[in-house]
Amino acid sequence: MKRSFFIGLIYSIIVYCVSAQEPSKPIYLDDSKPLEQRVEDALSRMTLEEKIAMVHAQSKFSSAGCSRLGIPEVWMSDGPHGIRPEPLWDAFKPAGWTNDSCTAFPALTCLAATFDPQLALEYGKAIGEEARYRKKDILLGPGVNIYRTPLNGRNFEYMGEDPYLASRMVVPYIQGVQQNGVAACLKHFALNNQERWRHNINVEVSDRALYEIYLPAFKAGVQEGNVWAVMGAYNLFRGQHCSHHDLLLNKILKNEWSFDGVVVSDWGGVYDTDESARNGLDIEMGTWSDGLTNGRAFAYDDYFLARPFLDKIKSGELPQQLLDDKVRRVLRLVFRTNMDRNRPWGSFATDAHAAISRRIAEQGIVLLKNETQLFPVSVGQYDRILVVGENAVKSLTVGGGSSELKAKKEISPLEGLIEKYGEKTIHYTLGYTSEPQKYDADSLRQVALALAKSADLVIYIGGLNKDHYQDCEAFDRKSFDLPYDQNDLIERLLEVNKNTGVIIISGNGVAMPWIEQVPALIQSWYLGSQAGNAMANVISGEVNPSGKLPFTIPKKLEDNGANSFGPSVYPGDSINVYYKEDILVGYRWFDTKKIEPQFPFGFGLSYTSFNYGKLTTDNKEYSKTDVIRLSCSITNTGGKDGAETLQIYSSQRHPSLPRPLKELKAFKKVSLKAGETKTVSFTIPVKDLAFFDDERHEWVVEQDRFTLSLATSSADIRSSVRIKVVE
Ligand code: BGC
Repeated sequence: MKRSFFIGLIYSIIVYCVSAQEPSKPIYLDDSKPLEQRVEDALSRMTLEEKIAMVHAQSKFSSAGCSRLGIPEVWMSDGPHGIRPEPLWDAFKPAGWTNDSCTAFPALTCLAATFDPQLALEYGKAIGEEARYRKKDILLGPGVNIYRTPLNGRNFEYMGEDPYLASRMVVPYIQGVQQNGVAACLKHFALNNQERWRHNINVEVSDRALYEIYLPAFKAGVQEGNVWAVMGAYNLFRGQHCSHHDLLLNKILKNEWSFDGVVVSDWGGVYDTDESARNGLDIEMGTWSDGLTNGRAFAYDDYFLARPFLDKIKSGELPQQLLDDKVRRVLRLVFRTNMDRNRPWGSFATDAHAAISRRIAEQGIVLLKNETQLFPVSVGQYDRILVVGENAVKSLTVGGGSSELKAKKEISPLEGLIEKYGEKTIHYTLGYTSEPQKYDADSLRQVALALAKSADLVIYIGGLNKDHYQDCEAFDRKSFDLPYDQNDLIERLLEVNKNTGVIIISGNGVAMPWIEQVPALIQSWYLGSQAGNAMANVISGEVNPSGKLPFTIPKKLEDNGANSFGPSVYPGDSINVYYKEDILVGYRWFDTKKIEPQFPFGFGLSYTSFNYGKLTTDNKEYSKTDVIRLSCSITNTGGKDGAETLQIYSSQRHPSLPRPLKELKAFKKVSLKAGETKTVSFTIPVKDLAFFDDERHEWVVEQDRFTLSLATSSADIRSSVRIKVVE
């Protein structure tokens, strides 16, 4: 008894002494503590040199942590359609890993064309899981630069011409990514609307167009999506490079919008230590610095935010608070990502991701014309289907610049069609080539025409691709026409076989001089891993097409706002570009100027038909803080299940400043069984009817009458209600 008492006492004393000596956990490591407290604690423990190391790159795609404190490095990857293969430490080139083949998701134009925010959430969640699995802390995407001209080589990476559509789609994408403890990086902030001269072109645009057209999707990503990182753009705006831009980064992003995350430069978009220290840049990436031009292999210490910044702080030329603010932001990001012990593990190139990728692709494909009901083509309907066109076989996940992927699988349209209709039915010929050194263009065409004559059906699969001067980073398209003489080929095919359906794969609108002759036309996109399956499912009718155009396709290039004024308005004179079309971007231009487009924004057909009921509202007078409630019925009057995107546009009767004829304010994609009717309701806060008054520098809703129109595209209004906004 006595003995056991003694043993117990000694044991208790040992336990007490050991636990008393154990140092208490530092606050920054204690995730039960508030984030800001952890940030301040970590910051207070760091030396000046350790802080400097965190605000510039240490390799092509990473920045340093603070190993002494156990704060990990930050690893980044493109983005935005899949996780790029692992690069070499000091170069863009792939390192040659064998376990980094990803799921290629459809391009963001396709996602926008789904008009389905729920799919954007699933997209974000899945790509975030892939990023997490690959141990990335920042996914370099999504991109929300507005589609200003169909010649921009990077439009395929963005979400179309309308700020409201892009806003509604980008918020769930970000939320989905960040659920994984991976930061999304919203890019390219801002006004990066062309690739031509992208490093040195200076954009001049009015405050109204800036706030109404070019900023809303970024603002939504920051304020509603709570994005943790933003990438500065390459171009200049009002004389300053966007990666260190006082107005954009300090005043608008961080001050007006209260962004508390990290601003990452675009790769090689930084030009000056003072500007990047003072003007809101937090991590400098990809700089081709003096060290490199002087022939040193690793020059990260020479980055503008490395030694030169350190020297200026030490000499008192720059205040240390500038550095501390940047490091606070990086720490916040690290705590939200890599140091979040509860973040999930992620998954990579799984069947589940392939299924999501396929679904987005299917929902984004747009049926533009179907006069002879050429589509859908049921299995067994024809004995001999001839597929013509290089895009039926060309890999379209490769190329395009930084969004290029190494996909685990990429099912081509031809493979998808063979799988669906069988080898006996599907015949294939190239028809045209993007590699003229390899094939004789004339023989390719002759073979295609000869085969087309005897085919029961011709499916043409062409468009643009990811080569330079097509849909590709760093280059704009040279022409609105299809490349490689495809217009001529399509016209000749239609001459020899009227039963020809055309499928354009692109991230941009193209000229369609053959549009009157072609009985059926599909606008498809860069669809990723499951391209062929998605396309075959839509062609065969297993999936009823429901995508809508996220941009207007003009009849001719000069009809498009930015292309209607001459070179100073696009592409500029190599120094400046003036956005003279101002707020009239996309359908806002076509509507207001009464120019008929080839295909309007928001347009897309289905294999079934829909009957729109009348739009109604229970109230006709609203105050500025009210929410407008609208509803209507919609009936699937055809014989197939399908989905329709109902759109609501607003117009103001007598605005004190010029406004576009109409602006998208709400949309809903609704699935309906054959014969089914549903009631659809919309809510629009009255404040969303505002315009940006540049003199007052605020959003203003005027006391006025407004028309709210229910439409199936921006050019097809089905019914309207008139309301009054009162004080
Ligand atoms: C692109 C960015 C990309 C970065 C890293 C740049 O050239 O503009 O969008 O994230 O490279 O690859």
